[in-house]
Amino acid sequence: MAALQFQLQHTDPQSKARAGEITTDHGTIQTPIFMPVGTVGSVKSLTVEQLKSEVKAEIILGNTYHLYLRPGTEVLEAAGGLHKFNGWDRPILTDSGGYQVFSLAGNRKIKEEGVVFQSHIDGSKHLFTPESVMDIQRSIGADIVMAFDECPPYPSDYTYAKKSMELTHRWLERCIKHFHNTPDKYGYTQNLFPIVQGSTYKDLRTASSQFVANTNLTGCAIGGLSVGEPEEMMYEFTELCCDELPIQKPRYLMGVGTPWNILECIALGVDMFDCVMPTRNGRNAMLFTSKGVINIDNKKWEKDFSPLDDGIDCHISNYYSKAYLRHLIKAKEITGLTLASVHNLAFYLWLVKEARKHVLAGDFVSWKNELVPVLKTRL
Ligand code: GUN
Repeated sequence: MAALQFQLQHTDPQSKARAGEITTDHGTIQTPIFMPVGTVGSVKSLTVEQLKSEVKAEIILGNTYHLYLRPGTEVLEAAGGLHKFNGWDRPILTDSGGYQVFSLAGNRKIKEEGVVFQSHIDGSKHLFTPESVMDIQRSIGADIVMAFDECPPYPSDYTYAKKSMELTHRWLERCIKHFHNTPDKYGYTQNLFPIVQGSTYKDLRTASSQFVANTNLTGCAIGGLSVGEPEEMMYEFTELCCDELPIQKPRYLMGVGTPWNILECIALGVDMFDCVMPTRNGRNAMLFTSKGVINIDNKKWEKDFSPLDDGIDCHISNYYSKAYLRHLIKAKEITGLTLASVHNLAFYLWLVKEARKHVLAGDFVSWKNELVPVLKTRL
């Protein structure tokens, strides 16, 4: 089987937007792409069938931190890897835990060796090192696995940000060495992506992007953004990193963002996105639609029997009404969580697929500039 390949099909002359195709042993992904988050191996409240037929997802994301704690690598290995375990036979990417240990785990302690942390489930103590995280991701068997990094908080002072970035770089070297010294477990090729850090300092971001660009890996990721900094700053650093990263490799901006963040970052040269927003906000009654943002809790939707969104290509969005979904969410019916999540994810996938079409058609910037204010409208 073969390493990941990226075919750059078109670059927009009026922006830095790109259209491409990523090929993995579990199939191809057309970029730009959004990856639904399936933290524990499942996209919350959705079946694999819904992900395929309604959302039209091409790749999903899992979390090393969660899957390691539960069900654990022994079960995942016995299943033959996560694809066999959860029934998703298309590409999977796993985040390394480098973010989750900082956002979820208790009592963490960062050392040169790795991070000691306490499980958010039962308080038990664990150690993640670059080597152990590579081993765990070998057991999970995702097509794309992320390097173990430290995501510093915003704001971080320069001294801390520099030390943290240098630690992430040393960890990256250890990840690469260990990853290449361990074989694929399940007969297909896994790919390691390095992560740019450097907080909100231009010289650090440039240095980190160059460090990552100089690795001999098949893609690149930008981390440490969308952690509370102003939106304009997130765009500024995304652009700075993209400008340093190799043209011929896919670029993944981690944890971003709103629909308009995604369009703006596509314009800056990002190819891959993930975010919990469509599912998490959906479960909290917030719907993103092609006409703007809806709070489905609002009484104004009580007797609105129009479809959730007739502007996108998804049966659930076209078929179920706003009034009905409002009722389900108000009544705390579990189907409400599913319908809201399916709709929001289908909308995100529609958005990146439309963006791709417009990049290929050559009118991406005018399409984006017209759509962004519409998407931001509070209906
Ligand atoms: N998800 C969102 N941001 C980050 C990051 O900086 N590092 C990792 N590993 N995952 C992320």
